[in-house]
Amino acid sequence: MRTTRPLLVGAALALASVALAPSAALAAPAPPADPNASEHSAAIGENTLRALAEAAGIEIGVAVNTDLLASDVKYRNIVNTQYSSVTAENVMKWEALNPQPGVYDWEAAEALIANAEANGQVVRGHTLVWHNQLPAWLTTGDYSAEELRATLEEHVKTVAAHFAGDIQQWDVVNEVIDDNGTFRETIWYQAYEELGLPGEQYVADVFRWAKEADPEAVLFYNDYNLEFTGPKSNLAYTFVQDMLADGVPIEGVGFQGHLDTQYGYPDLRNNLERFAALGLEVAMTEVDVRTFVTQKPNGTYTNTPADPAEEAQQIDWWAQTLEDCLAVEACNSYTVWGVSDAHSWIPGWFTGQGAGLLYDMHDNPKAQYEALREVLRDAS
Ligand code: XIL
Repeated sequence: MRTTRPLLVGAALALASVALAPSAALAAPAPPADPNASEHSAAIGENTLRALAEAAGIEIGVAVNTDLLASDVKYRNIVNTQYSSVTAENVMKWEALNPQPGVYDWEAAEALIANAEANGQVVRGHTLVWHNQLPAWLTTGDYSAEELRATLEEHVKTVAAHFAGDIQQWDVVNEVIDDNGTFRETIWYQAYEELGLPGEQYVADVFRWAKEADPEAVLFYNDYNLEFTGPKSNLAYTFVQDMLADGVPIEGVGFQGHLDTQYGYPDLRNNLERFAALGLEVAMTEVDVRTFVTQKPNGTYTNTPADPAEEAQQIDWWAQTLEDCLAVEACNSYTVWGVSDAHSWIPGWFTGQGAGLLYDMHDNPKAQYEALREVLRDAS
């Protein structure tokens, strides 16, 4: 039995509110009843992922598309009954929150937070600083290095202060290290170099600004491929170690966990352990397991695995990622990157691949979902 960590919200209360008012906090009008909804409401109780995860002492989370949360009752039921933590899939990114210089749009992110509160869920903030999904005004604007640094400080402090009190864990910086194990040369890296500073020093500054603006949230560095031991995770390790030695308020490392069956299973547990041994929290923050899917005669793709052996491997890897997290005391949160194959980012980013999530194209649970429940039952 794992030590149960204190949850931010009483779980019994949380589950009661799920049953009573799953969508109370959403501004959108209630959509028509879904004929399959009762099937899901019936699942509220001791067998949901979130109930089993609570017994196992871990948060189980999902990345949420806020449009679907407002418009699709089946989607919303899954989010609210199965998960104890939510991450904004897109609406807390820079381009969404800060679309024009000095202009902030909090609405979609706040709707997600209100829904989480009504359903007893914690919120992972994602993400204060990333090189993708930046607004055009920032990437195409003719800013000096000094102005870029000031803009970064303003954005981080404004966003962290705005959501202070509502965020359990913040992905303060996302993907700051390149695949080959060097610091990614983001616009801020370049700006700092121009200012005569080490390029990567912006990361330490961002952690300090975030802590000042939101002292309560646990501050994470989040990245992909940290699951594997190699140049990338090795640099991440020494970088984090150096920041800790310098007193930078970094408190966690997020392992995205975007796995692909064409590569081997990573030595995830060892990597979780070595970062945890630095005194940090660790979390699985964006898990999905993609594979090649079948192509139709017209050239488009199904969302069905092309190879049954790889499908079996997918299911197994889901179980393994959760087992690895549960085996490491400091791994306190496990988030899947999307509700179902119908809305996953995978087909849009990896041609010919898909079927990476726990629910199928019709938002029905797959064997992967059962595999996670099994692991959680075994852990409690
Ligand atoms: C993805 C979203 O899922 C997509 O909807 C969006 O178009 C692009 O970003 N790593 C991250 C996430 O940290 O923010 C990314 O999310 C997936 C990869």
